[in-house]
This record gives sequence, C-alpha cells and structure tokens, in this order.
Amino acid sequence: MGYIGNKEAQPLLFKALKKLEYRGYDSYGIAVLGESIGIHKDTGRVGALTKYVPSLAGLMGIGHTRWATHGEPSQINAHPHTDCSGRFAVVHNGVITNYCELKEELIREGHNFISETDTEVIPHLIEKYYRGNLEAACAETITRLKGSYAIAVIAQTNQQIVVAKNGSPLVIGLGDHENIIASDIPPLLDYTNRVVYLDDGEIGVIDKDNVKISRSGKEIHKSVSLVNWNAEDVQKSDYAHFMLKEIHEQPKIIQHAINGFSLDEFPIVGTDFMGNKGGKGLLILACGTSYHAGLVGKYIIEELLDIPVRVELASEVNHRERMIPVANAIAITQSGETADVLISMKKLMDTGSLTLAITNVRGSSASRLATKTLYLNAGPELSVAATKSFIAQLIEIYKLILLQPGIKTDTKKQLSLELKLMPNYVQQVLDNEQQILDCAKQIAHYSNIFYIGRGINYPIALEGALKIKEISYIHAEGFAAGELKHGPFSLLQPNTPVVAIVNRDFTYDAMITNIKEIKSRKAPVMALVREDDRETEKLTDMIINVPNTHSLFSPIVNTVALQLLAYYTANELGCPIDYPRNLAKSVTVE
Ligand code: AGP
Repeated sequence: MGYIGNKEAQPLLFKALKKLEYRGYDSYGIAVLGESIGIHKDTGRVGALTKYVPSLAGLMGIGHTRWATHGEPSQINAHPHTDCSGRFAVVHNGVITNYCELKEELIREGHNFISETDTEVIPHLIEKYYRGNLEAACAETITRLKGSYAIAVIAQTNQQIVVAKNGSPLVIGLGDHENIIASDIPPLLDYTNRVVYLDDGEIGVIDKDNVKISRSGKEIHKSVSLVNWNAEDVQKSDYAHFMLKEIHEQPKIIQHAINGFSLDEFPIVGTDFMGNKGGKGLLILACGTSYHAGLVGKYIIEELLDIPVRVELASEVNHRERMIPVANAIAITQSGETADVLISMKKLMDTGSLTLAITNVRGSSASRLATKTLYLNAGPELSVAATKSFIAQLIEIYKLILLQPGIKTDTKKQLSLELKLMPNYVQQVLDNEQQILDCAKQIAHYSNIFYIGRGINYPIALEGALKIKEISYIHAEGFAAGELKHGPFSLLQPNTPVVAIVNRDFTYDAMITNIKEIKSRKAPVMALVREDDRETEKLTDMIINVPNTHSLFSPIVNTVALQLLAYYTANELGCPIDYPRNLAKSVTVE
C-alpha cells in the first residue's frame, strides 16, 4: 500500500498494513520519504508490541506485508527493496518469473543484491533506467519483467508514488488532498469510497492532488467507482476474531440475498450460463473452499436441471496443455483475485467460452475479466478461513438454479419456500454453539480427524476437513463415506475420530452402515444429525444437532456447524485463528 498527502505517513502505513494483513503476514516493511528514504522492516506481524520501531518522518510512503514466495521470511527479504544507492524503494506483489536472468545481467553490470527475492531486480532496473524521470524509468523497467506484479515505487527525488500492474490487483483510493493505493479495498475505507482500479499494462503517477494514468505512454481516462463497504465492515466489533464475526453474519447475509429474490433478477445470467449448449455441459472452476461450493453446485444442477457439470480445480486447469472446450463456464472466487482462477478463466475465454464469475468483490480482476458477474454481497471477508462467502456462494447457486426454466413448478415452489427459511435454520445452528463447543473440546487433542459425507454432503466433508486443518493445524481428511473401505480404513484407530454428516435422504441407510463399520474398528464417531434422529444418536459418541432442512439445503446448516466446530477447536488450542500459519487470504500467485 502507499500514502501521499498532508499527514505523517508512518502511522497511516502501519494502520493500513494491519488491515491488509490477511493477504500475508510473515514479515512487513515500510519506506517513508523524508529528507531521504527511511526504511523499517521486520519479521512477523505488523505492530508486534515487543518490536522496536524507529520513527520515520515524512508525508508519503509505501508499505507491504509479505507472504514469502522467494526466500524465507526474514528482515532482508521483507519489502520494500531498494537499489544500490537507496534512492528508489519498491513494494511488490506477485512473482517475477525471469528474475534470475535479470539478476545475472544486473550483477554483471555492477549491481549488488542482498536478498533472495525476485522483487529486488525491480529497484535495480529502475536505477539502471533512471534518467531524471521516475515514470519513464518504471515504464522501461516493466517492459523487462515477466510474470505477475503490482508495484508501488517511490524515489528520493520525487513527491510521487508510481504504480504499475500486471496480473496482481492494485486499486487507487481518491481522497481529499491525499491519495492512497493498496492491493485491496479495506485500508482505503478510512479515507474514501471513491476508487480507480488499475488494469494490466497501466502505469499510475500519484501525488497528493492528482492521479495520472497512462498506457503505452498515452494518458487515459479511467472511471471512478464507488465502493459500497464502509469502515465498520472491516472491524471485529465485539467478536474475538473476524472468523467468529463472519460466521455470525451468515443469517443476515442469507436474508439479504433472498429478499426480493425474483425471476427477473438474472435476466441474462439465467439463460446464457446454465444451458447445455452443444451438449458439452457446464464447467465450474474454483480453488479451495470455492471449489467445494462448485461441487455442491454440480450436485444440484445435475439433480434439478439434468445438465452435466464438470467441476475443476483452477490450479489444475491452468497447467493443462489442452482443454476440452465448453460453451459456458462458471468461475467461483470469493476474492476475485485468485491467480489460478484468473489464468484458467483467460485460457477458457481464449477458446471462446463465456464465463460467469461468482465473486464477493466488486471491481475484482475476475469481475472485470468475466462475461458476466454475480456478486455475493457478503461484505468484506477478512478471516483467511472462508466462511460467509461459502454460504453466500451456495445461496447464489441455489437462486441461479431456481430461476431456470427447466425446473418443475412444484419443485421450484417447494425449494423457494425452503430457501426463505434458511436464515432461521442457520440461526438455530448458531444458537446451538454450546453443544458444538463441547464437541470441540473433545476433539481438540486428537492429531488426526476424518470427515465423511455422502451425496450432496460429500463436498461438505471436504470443506469441514479443510476448515479445521487450516486453522487448528490438526491433520484432517474429508472422504466420501463409501470410500473409507477402499483404503483409509487402515488408518482407523481409537485415537482417530470420524465426523459423520448424516443426512435424512436416500444416503441415510448407507451412512448408518458406515458408522457401524467405523465403530467396530473402535474409532470414535461424532455425528451431525437432525434433531429427530434418535437412531444415529444411539450409535455415536458425540453429536451435533442440526435443523431439519430439505436435503438439498442440508449443506448450509451442516457447513455452519462445521465452521463453528473448526473455530472452537482452534480456539481451544490457542491458534491464531484469523491468520493461520503459512496462508494468505488471496492467493495472487500461481
Ligand atoms: C478457504 O478457507 C481458504 N482460505 C481457501 O481455500 C480459499 O477458498 C481459496 O484460496 C480460494 O479463494 P477465492 O475464493 O478467493 O478464489
């Protein structure tokens, strides 16, 4: 991020970096322009009380929180990086893929490198090309870079921040005699809701009163967008963690999403994207939790619309040499900035596919790339573990499907009524926190946990396992229940609890058999059961009750229960819930 204005930059940079920490938090640094460029960098989290922080005076500066890709988290590898003379300072998100050859070239020319990062070539290239004009030096520099970058540059001689981007996000907040740049919206909200999104290949020159953007040397006009989040949306309020706050926001988010839900809502999306053009079916692309939402979507689309759906991990698709062409693809991405998703979207669109992005962030790269976008309207999600965005993704998928002409009227009516009850059902799960907390206390001290589900709840077993491993560091695996006996059974022991999602549908009997098989191997079973399911209760060691929903909506209540289970387990273990080890919220590198 960067600030230029009339205020002391250092405290503002630190405050803003705290708000960006979810994007990376293994080290951090700032550069402030006073009489010269002053730099402070350190390992760990911004603002750790035990650290000495020098005072750097100046009204402009840049800052960075790092998620290490090249070189371990260390003070030297932390950004900002400088050239030999310390006249230029650079912060960078992304990966410069040709940095080795650039570094060799620069070393041959006499440049000295001190870090292991790819980023360090950037200030040295700027130094090489600087002939009194910072913008021109940056423009020349980026012609040499391959890979992805969002960079912010300051120079000892200029009252300006120069920014450029390719692949990684960068947004400029327009303040009153001050301007702020950042890789995401939250730090801008203290200053403004008027923003300009930089696009790939553009360079911005920012001073406190002006923002000039150019492409290929020509100044261009960019439209100003209004952000509909506010500063309170990015506060923890009275909650101990963002994750808990975000879990508790879910009934409200669902309510908001279904208010006024009508067939007129998606006039284009509804018909263009859910068809089976050319008999090639539909492709869903996503990573992590969003991928699990895609798997639930596949189940419902195939069940209700009879359209074959392929769900692919975007991180796999983008490295595939050949794609089976599809007419329509849906990219699900909370942040809208996941590099793997963006690259695979581009790849598909190059073959002529239309893409629908389902994302939470207006102005995000996915929304600007896609043919059409559906917004989640879930508000900013700051905890690294995705919770409310997953539920919002599911709700958008349900709505999209219910709007399709192919569904029988009775089914549509029944499911639409059930959808309206979801805020209450989710609230009931939240009200059942004590039971979940008791279960969390019991499983917190195991080293391995299995999660099993069947049918539409198989993806929820994957999601439950992802959530708990991500924040509690307990090894957890999600399985399709029927697959246990094809291998994983060999791992079952009295110290391997199994979390079984028991749904009252056609999978019920098979799941009860699975539970009996697990119990006969003496592994403890914790079951997610409907309130009236006394039979499962008798068979299992621990239970979490969930409301009686229609089977197709059971992923929602089951997920919320498993989110709380993961949260309380991690809390019991004293883990840094919002900032789990080695992770970042937006994975903007491949
Ligand atoms: C979920 O808890 C994770 N933090 C992660 O799997 C995430 O869902 C994934 O990186 C995809 O992110 P996106 O939805 O922003 O594309």
